[in-house]
Amino acid sequence: MSHPLQQNHDPKMWEKHRFGLPNNRWERLKDKCVWVTGAGTGYGQCTAIALAAAGSFVILSGRKSEKLIETITLMKSYGIGSSNCEIVDFDLTDIKQTENACKSVMEITPSLYGLVNNAAVAQHGNTLYPLQEGTYEVWDKILKTNLTAQWYLTKTILPHMIKGKELRIIFMGSEAGWAFTPGFGMYNVSKCALNNLSASFASELDASHKDVDIQVNTIVPGEAKTEMNQMSTDSPFTIVPMALLLLSHPAYGPNGCFFHRDGRYFSFAYAQPYSREILC
Ligand SMILES: NC(=O)c1ccc[n+]([C@@H]2O[C@H](COP(=O)([O-])OP(=O)(O)OC[C@H]3O[C@@H](n4cnc5c(N)ncnc54)[C@H](OP(=O)(O)O)[C@@H]3O)[C@@H](O)[C@H]2O)c1
Repeated sequence: MSHPLQQNHDPKMWEKHRFGLPNNRWERLKDKCVWVTGAGTGYGQCTAIALAAAGSFVILSGRKSEKLIETITLMKSYGIGSSNCEIVDFDLTDIKQTENACKSVMEITPSLYGLVNNAAVAQHGNTLYPLQEGTYEVWDKILKTNLTAQWYLTKTILPHMIKGKELRIIFMGSEAGWAFTPGFGMYNVSKCALNNLSASFASELDASHKDVDIQVNTIVPGEAKTEMNQMSTDSPFTIVPMALLLLSHPAYGPNGCFFHRDGRYFSFAYAQPYSREILC
């Protein structure tokens, strides 16, 4: 990426700037069905709103339907139509609810094009919670939500995505996945494993489905003020340009790569750098 992506677009002015997307990329999102988890708040809310603006069919998920309705209300306040939006509220950590949510999505669309695995929980109300003092229950909740549920949802809906012959999956990672910040060990571990989950899905699918245009990537977003992170002053709309660029990428795009929301790629260990322009 020669220049960092502009991230501070005013969402009310979406028709003017289209979050920095060139017309062809914006048009590619039209009528595509994309499922966003954690769509009632923060990064997920902003991604869902921007997708609806681009004319995608958006499935919004989270546990609290009132939050998902807030997202719809907010998009309407920006002059974005919500007739292409469907709410599927469920708890990702519940196997049965996840399977039922996937069934609902299969009824909504003949094949799912995009999945934004964005939902997660922070650690213990974001207060310091050292590994040596943690309980089994908190460990289990964090790992279940931030890792196990992401795998189970993705693997359950995958056949319905593969059907469409082109699919885009984003996992919302975190620099915590490479950090060892004291007091945040459980969250760090969950995000570290999520990085691997994302890239492992990418390489396995690439090997098993040569006839399908598969792009599974991780965004390492950086901080923004959301329910999870009250300390930042950045808007969660900062995620939108990068998320839309990945979701709208034509065939032969990145797969198994890691990007910051400003467009930079991360390369480490076996993760390959993405040497082409993401904005093609
Ligand atoms: N904000 C940051 O500074 C930052 C930095 C790095 C990475 N991230 C990552 O960005 C992603 C979005 O986070 P955010 O900052 O936007 O936080 P957020 O506002 O707290 O959003 C998290 C979302 O996850 C949903 N969720 C949590 N548990 C769930 C469950 N069991 N089932 C279904 N949905 C569930 C929540 O909805 P319900 O409560 O309605 O279920 C909520 O909408 C996360 O993966 C986070 O780790 C954020």
